Amino acid sequence: MIVSQETVQAVQRVACIEEVVADFVPLKKKGQNFWACCPFHHEHTPSFSVSPTKGFYKCFGCDASGDVINFVQQIEGSTFVEAITYLAQRYGIPVTSASDGSPDLQDYRAKESLYILLNLAKNYYIDLLWHHPEAAKVALPYLAQRAIPSAIAKKFELGYSLDKWDGFYSFAIAKGVVLEQLIAAGLVVQNGAKIYDRFRGRLMFPIHNSSGQVVAFGARHMAIRPLSQPICDEQFLGKVQSSTDTYSVVCEEHRPQNYHVAIGLPKKPTAGDSPKYVNSSETLVYQKGSLLYGLSFAKQAIKQANNCYLVEGYTDVLAFHRAGVEAVVASAGTALTENQIDLLRRFATKVTLVFDGDQAGIGAALRGIDKLLAKGLEVKVISLPVGEDPDSYLGKVGADAFNHYISCVAQDFITFKAGFYQSTQQSPAEQAKAIREIVQSIVAIPDEIERTLLLKKCSKLFAIEEEVLFTTYHALRHQTAPVWQQKKTFTKQHSRQKSNPYVDPKNLPLTGKLAASIEAYEREIMRILLTYGATKLDEGRPLYEYILLELADVAFRSTDCSLVFEYCKEAFQKGSVVDIQCCLDSTAERIRKLAINLTAFPHDISQAWVKKYGIYTIEEAQHVQKMSLEVILRLKIRLVQELIEENRAALKQELTEEEEEQLLKVHQVLKDSERSIAKQLGTVVAQ
Ligand code: UTP
Ligand code: MN
Repeated sequence: MIVSQETVQAVQRVACIEEVVADFVPLKKKGQNFWACCPFHHEHTPSFSVSPTKGFYKCFGCDASGDVINFVQQIEGSTFVEAITYLAQRYGIPVTSASDGSPDLQDYRAKESLYILLNLAKNYYIDLLWHHPEAAKVALPYLAQRAIPSAIAKKFELGYSLDKWDGFYSFAIAKGVVLEQLIAAGLVVQNGAKIYDRFRGRLMFPIHNSSGQVVAFGARHMAIRPLSQPICDEQFLGKVQSSTDTYSVVCEEHRPQNYHVAIGLPKKPTAGDSPKYVNSSETLVYQKGSLLYGLSFAKQAIKQANNCYLVEGYTDVLAFHRAGVEAVVASAGTALTENQIDLLRRFATKVTLVFDGDQAGIGAALRGIDKLLAKGLEVKVISLPVGEDPDSYLGKVGADAFNHYISCVAQDFITFKAGFYQSTQQSPAEQAKAIREIVQSIVAIPDEIERTLLLKKCSKLFAIEEEVLFTTYHALRHQTAPVWQQKKTFTKQHSRQKSNPYVDPKNLPLTGKLAASIEAYEREIMRILLTYGATKLDEGRPLYEYILLELADVAFRSTDCSLVFEYCKEAFQKGSVVDIQCCLDSTAERIRKLAINLTAFPHDISQAWVKKYGIYTIEEAQHVQKMSLEVILRLKIRLVQELIEENRAALKQELTEEEEEQLLKVHQVLKDSERSIAKQLGTVVAQ
């Protein structure tokens, strides 16, 4: 849906930035503005500010900034339309679509009522889990046996469905829900004349979409083993106590008075049993391959780490949380889909696949790797010992060893694949096939330097001449057009229409031109500093302080700029206000002249320059803050790019293995930093 302009305007008019932000982070008022620790980067002292009068938020630590809609987009990782819908919902504004201006209410309402119904079901199942004697007999011991603490069960909103045909059905009908709705939500099944609950006698895992609304359920079968020797609950509770301390309390709470019947321990289901998981059918709000289990709990952590662990099952996600690692999602029951990868890419550029070291697990990982690479994600792989999934492995080794394992054994995908093929393939023909497969993965990677580096690495690992690999590479490259090649033409055409060619680092000019534009930005930031230095920023400090601190560790290229900048730094340290006047007060004639030259700069430049380098001339005093941030980011991105170029040149020299390793690491770090600056720049320019 494309939302109408009226809806967007209504949201802009009504939504109150400090209220919306406060839904996510606790705000403290200080002067005109509100402050908090930034939700977008890790910090201990607040540098995240919200200005109610201006309707903007800004972080002085990581430079995240924008209006209320940007905030929702950034914190929820949502699209513009999703952010508008979220805000409209929060403020009770009807969402109308752009096409005809008429309310797109039918679709909206249908989804809305499904959300409400699914939420009702979720609460119903939660209530049963914690308060129904049947759950106390079956489900709570099951949780205990699997060492799922009550805090985790509550966080993930686990529930229990009664072992009867009409548990939820009767409950919902009594609440006035109509049958069609129950069927549309995938909660009740109609089979001829029979109508019954889809989920019966199972542990309920609600499946949330990325904004945290329940859209479906995965329901786990729990079998009870008939016991030759009954275990009385006291003994069981004793056992429970040793595995998780929170849990025993829960069991106590829910234990009926004088409850002494035997409790069996759940057994592993065998082939004859009903399926391990029953999942909701697809509905208007649930398409299996389009969501990732656990994402709504993981978003912030994934963003902060710029990495996401990708596991297979619901219980594996819970296991990571138990071990204190929140940046985790599961593909849950489907092979990884393109939609899921696109969803992930909104939050991180790195993915770490975690899977069981058996044949099936490795197979799934190998298929996942290529899909992720083709979408430009950086892929690492953690293989667990054969027969273990994260959940069982955590159970075996405990949280510390688990954490140690996941942080130490992650391999980049080439090393992983090479190791795998070397351990399993014997004959030269099989070896050759394996190498071709690895090269095929490399072909899929969008970044050219990365491709080259990986081919070099591959040549080392397999002790094969680089030329041979490059020949294979070129042959494969022409056989299949990988995603990045198909997209290239699109990007080119697309970027020509963009008013600002600098947001996408791929479109940036290279070495020679880089140096020229670095100097242009140096002059521009000096001009801003001298012209507007004394201006007070939103949060009260002067612009000169902001600029001087931001650029404290930058060595200016241009001698002119460098001289004036050093002078300004000294003045700042002495406590002066730094602006043109401060330079004109200098005893050195050189400084005075240079300062005048620098501030006169924009009036001499042509309009072509203004367009080309995005240098501001009109009404700039009004957005001096945004402008300085943008120029600083542009300058920084160019400095990083120059370093990348230098490093790239160094990589072409004769190198020892260690030297090359070192340079490859440097390349990665620089690339990361380039991406992160480009991302910030994207946010600033989009305002
Ligand atoms: P697993 O068989 O690995 O289950 O399936 P699991 O998550 O480890 O569960 P436990 O630990 O045995 O309780 C991985 C995922 O595949 C889907 C589920 O999403 C599950 O989490 N699945 C599996 C189903 O949908 N149906 C099934 O019958 C089995
Ligand atoms: Mn498992």
